[in-house]
Amino acid sequence: MHNSSSPDEQGAKQERFSRAGFIFAAVGSSVGLGNMWKFPYITGKYGGAAFFVLFLICIVLIGLPIMIAELAIGRGGRGNAAASMRRLSGKPLWGGFGLLAVICAFIIMSYYSVVAGWTVHYMLISFVGTLFQSTDYAGVFGDFIGGWAPAGWQLAVMIFCAYITGRGVSSGIEKFNKLLIPAMLILLIVMMVRALTLPGGSAGASYFLQPDFSKLTAASALAALGHAFFSLSLGMGIVLTFGAYVDRSQSLSQATFAVAGGDVLYAILAGLIIFPTCFAFDIEVSQGPGLIFVALPAAFASMPFGAFFGGIFFLLLAIAALTSAVSILEVSVSYAIDRWNWPRRKAAAIVAAACLLYGLPSALSAGGTVPGIMLGGRSFFDWMDFISSNILLPIGGLAVTLFAGFVWKQAASEAGLTGRWAGIWLFMLRYVAPLLMLLVFIHSMGWI
Ligand code: PHE
Repeated sequence: MHNSSSPDEQGAKQERFSRAGFIFAAVGSSVGLGNMWKFPYITGKYGGAAFFVLFLICIVLIGLPIMIAELAIGRGGRGNAAASMRRLSGKPLWGGFGLLAVICAFIIMSYYSVVAGWTVHYMLISFVGTLFQSTDYAGVFGDFIGGWAPAGWQLAVMIFCAYITGRGVSSGIEKFNKLLIPAMLILLIVMMVRALTLPGGSAGASYFLQPDFSKLTAASALAALGHAFFSLSLGMGIVLTFGAYVDRSQSLSQATFAVAGGDVLYAILAGLIIFPTCFAFDIEVSQGPGLIFVALPAAFASMPFGAFFGGIFFLLLAIAALTSAVSILEVSVSYAIDRWNWPRRKAAAIVAAACLLYGLPSALSAGGTVPGIMLGGRSFFDWMDFISSNILLPIGGLAVTLFAGFVWKQAASEAGLTGRWAGIWLFMLRYVAPLLMLLVFIHSMGWI
């Protein structure tokens, strides 16, 4: 059925999350490798607990207002990211910004699926025990990502995510997250108890929980802001896309608090696993990417029942990665359904296949499997990460804030905010958030 408006504006979305279902799905999206891996190591790098306090402030001041804005745009527009912004403004330019978010989401999925695949592989080799047969964990990791297996795992992740999104909003995405998010909480608690009872573990917990503000620098403030944004899955069209499936009767601000609270809770639990483990085994927390795949396996190898706890740890990572991956695939699937008028299953299958094709060079370049996929000293994988996280994501975030702050006049009423709260919200969206995001962008480009 075609109408005269632009092709990505067809029919308003009819699918809906249940109230709790939406919270679970949004927490599933926000709790990802960002919480489990990036948060601990940047916290270690930028000053421990003091950085964490800064991160919380950024979540409240910038994260919450932008999340409410994305949800309001999605629910007001009832379309994919591009259609909602075009419909509410009546201007193709804003649809263009929405489309940019869809493209950003597609690119992120193309390489996030690679890392998600690594976590599934590590979960299996950890449970089976083969991971612990050697002591050269850097070598094991290098051989793995430099081989062909990552492409196979990427295929598996993609098929899985296409299956979940293909099943639909309530019987796919919602059901999947309602099952896994509580399961994840239990596993996190098991791991936390294990980590805190390691000899020397409590020193790690106090490093994480006792702020020393003298360690803070301007760079840590910008990193905290950037991470608050990434951790809540903002700027990549996810929350906006989910907003289209939220019922009118659900309070957007309450939902936002619940989701941000969930995200922070899971980050704290992850910190209470990683820091004690690192302190107990004398591992440098701030070492970056190698931390979870190289340093932590060594720690698991030397603790009783290490294969079991290592397996649980990588299972946690895999769940975190897969629930995020499902949400990011949905951004493009939602777009394809409207744009080409495809049934959901077909859209999920085609989008996932396209993303797999586009993401193959990432799977094969991260560890140098095919040595030629390098450009200007960066692998294809690193380029995709750089273009999406450092360029498209800030543009998407900026577009959303300015759109809800200045362009779409009904934003506050759709968000359910009136009086003073509406005033504060609009002030944050108009002036504070754009300015800070511009600073993060300039910093991430290395200009300051
Ligand atoms: N919030 C997610 C995380 O912490 C960010 C993300 C979501 C990344 C979806 C990719 C896909 O990992």
